[in-house]
Amino acid sequence: MAVIGADLQRAKELLSGGDLVAIPTETVYGLAGNAYNTAAVARIFAVKQRPSFDPLIVHTDTLDKITDFTSYIPAAAQQLASQCWPGPLTIILPRNEKIPDLVTSGLDTVAVRIPHHPLSLKLLSMLDFPLAAPSANPFGYISPTTAQHVADQLGDDLAYILDGGRCEVGVESTIISFEAVIPVVYRLGGMSLEAIQALIGEVTLTPHSSSNPQAPGMLQSHYAPRKNLFLGNISTLMQEHGTENVALLTFKEFYDEIDASLQIQLSGEGNLAEAAQNLFSAMRSLDKLPVIKILAETVPDEGLGRAVNDRLRRAAAL
Ligand code: TXA
Ligand code: MG
Repeated sequence: MAVIGADLQRAKELLSGGDLVAIPTETVYGLAGNAYNTAAVARIFAVKQRPSFDPLIVHTDTLDKITDFTSYIPAAAQQLASQCWPGPLTIILPRNEKIPDLVTSGLDTVAVRIPHHPLSLKLLSMLDFPLAAPSANPFGYISPTTAQHVADQLGDDLAYILDGGRCEVGVESTIISFEAVIPVVYRLGGMSLEAIQALIGEVTLTPHSSSNPQAPGMLQSHYAPRKNLFLGNISTLMQEHGTENVALLTFKEFYDEIDASLQIQLSGEGNLAEAAQNLFSAMRSLDKLPVIKILAETVPDEGLGRAVNDRLRRAAAL
């Protein structure tokens, strides 16, 4: 069983030896390995049971180090990076030969991010290689936002979980690419569309698609809890599904029809950042309740609400 702790030296030793360590970031916990070590990267795919066509994000701690494994950084990407990193944003960049094909699933681009978390930034500064790290959950399940979430699902498969507390942002990073004239957002996430547009102007948002080969993480059912989740107007859903054997996931309202222990409000005050922070742990808690269905509603579609709604829609897909 994995040890949970905050021993950076131990984490460094394991990673340097080719082992995997779960690391905290401000978005979700990552399952990290040496990005330059093909065997370590192969182990990430095996532990996650992730298909090899779904590429990984490479994490580092300075813009300088990124030039070690990329071939070119477009000016607009540079501008966004300098203003947003460390932060919940992943940028797709042309890679060089130092990155194994397995990391990028053979693409000639690599996804890069400088995460905003003191422990992981410190760890990255101690390493002479970047860390490939997908979210530390089995493929297709909800991403972990605490060290315990990681231990619950992957505890048998890794030696060490670096405990950085509860993730502040709570949803995965926003992914943006500069391969087209107008930058393309592949995944809505912890950095809002509004914030990105304020910095670089117009962007294109790729439609949700299970056949988009560019970002397989956009697979429709990618963030699913094990229980069936139905999305819509809560009152209508209760009429359709009844009030027995159901749990509720709401934005801020409490519903008298359902026992208090069977419902979670994402943010009683209606704060979208708080809703994002609570989303995945709420889904995990609801998944453990003695009910058959989860009835959920979307939140206002602005700011971090877009990422919350995106995850809810994927979770609702059958
Ligand atoms: O917040 C996050 O991004 C977390 C933390 C640990 O950093 N990581 C994360 O990784 O969510 P993962 O593997 O669960 O999602 C990575 C996404 C996938 O959807 C993958 O398809 C996309 O990044 N991706 C990776 N490389 C890509 C590339 N070269 N082009 C397009 N998409 C890429
Ligand atoms: Mg993931």
